[in-house]
Amino acid sequence: MQYEDLIVEVHGRVALIRLNRPKALNALNDRMMNELGEAFAIFDKDPQIGCIVLTGSEKAFAAGADIPAMIDYTYQDTYRDDYITRNWEHILKVRKPVIGAVAGYALGGGSELAMMCDFVIAADTAKFGQPEIKIGVTPGAGATQRLPRAIGKAKAMDLLLTARTIDAAEAERTGLVARVVPADKLIDEALAAATAIASMPLSVAMQIKEAVNHAFEVPLTEGVRYERRLFHAAFGTPAQREGMHAFLEKRLPKFEGL
Ligand code: HXC
Repeated sequence: MQYEDLIVEVHGRVALIRLNRPKALNALNDRMMNELGEAFAIFDKDPQIGCIVLTGSEKAFAAGADIPAMIDYTYQDTYRDDYITRNWEHILKVRKPVIGAVAGYALGGGSELAMMCDFVIAADTAKFGQPEIKIGVTPGAGATQRLPRAIGKAKAMDLLLTARTIDAAEAERTGLVARVVPADKLIDEALAAATAIASMPLSVAMQIKEAVNHAFEVPLTEGVRYERRLFHAAFGTPAQREGMHAFLEKRLPKFEGL
């Protein structure tokens, strides 16, 4: 598949999607978001793929939604065309694990896109922020909701109201990112993590993702009950038999196709 604003590669069982509008620091416009939705949908369906990595460039994961493209929108335009929902939330429908690999700026919609990934590995050059208030708008792709859940109310209010940018170390301290790695190792580390995930039984990885996301939607007892049902169901699967037998037989499990 050829894209205008993405570069897509396959590494073994891992798909790597790079946002590619370098002149605009990967500012996210309609075409790019449409392409991103298409690429995610293709890899989510592809049985050869077990994990997807989303990245940008060394300078920017994405510097936010495309400001020139938005500047003349009216309220009617955004409401009628369902701006954001129409092509920003494809990533939330992806059932396979998605790792965000962030170097440089992840601002506004860029930071929100990173938060839609299942977890983020950041380069030590990464900078996160929600500067929307400085251009006269609230965030629109989930930051007021996902940021407090990710890093707590105090830090979220600080970032959203002051528009200050945090570096990778602070992002890791607050729990916004899972790991920080040297910038020149970012893609290797993200691919290694994704390859490790893709070597696990895919159906179990997908169920873990589903269960963790469920935790944000339901009360604790309901979430635990849901997990218990998945756990019980695991005993009806070949992955459980292969995994446990391989352990006892002191060999590596063969999870391909499971
Ligand atoms: C369109 C952008 C852009 C953006 C940068 N560029 N951010 N174009 N939309 N969000 C363009 C610049 O206009 C410039 O193009 C080129 O990228 C390089 O940017 P510079 O500003 O020259 O680079 P630098 O001085 O290094 O500063 C980098 C920066 C700054 C700190 C990231 O560009 C910046 O503050 N950008 C805006 C960040 C922002 O406000 N993001 C939130 C957007 S609102 P030219 O042609 O001049 O060379 C948002 C709402 C989300 O995301 C709502 C839900 C989707």
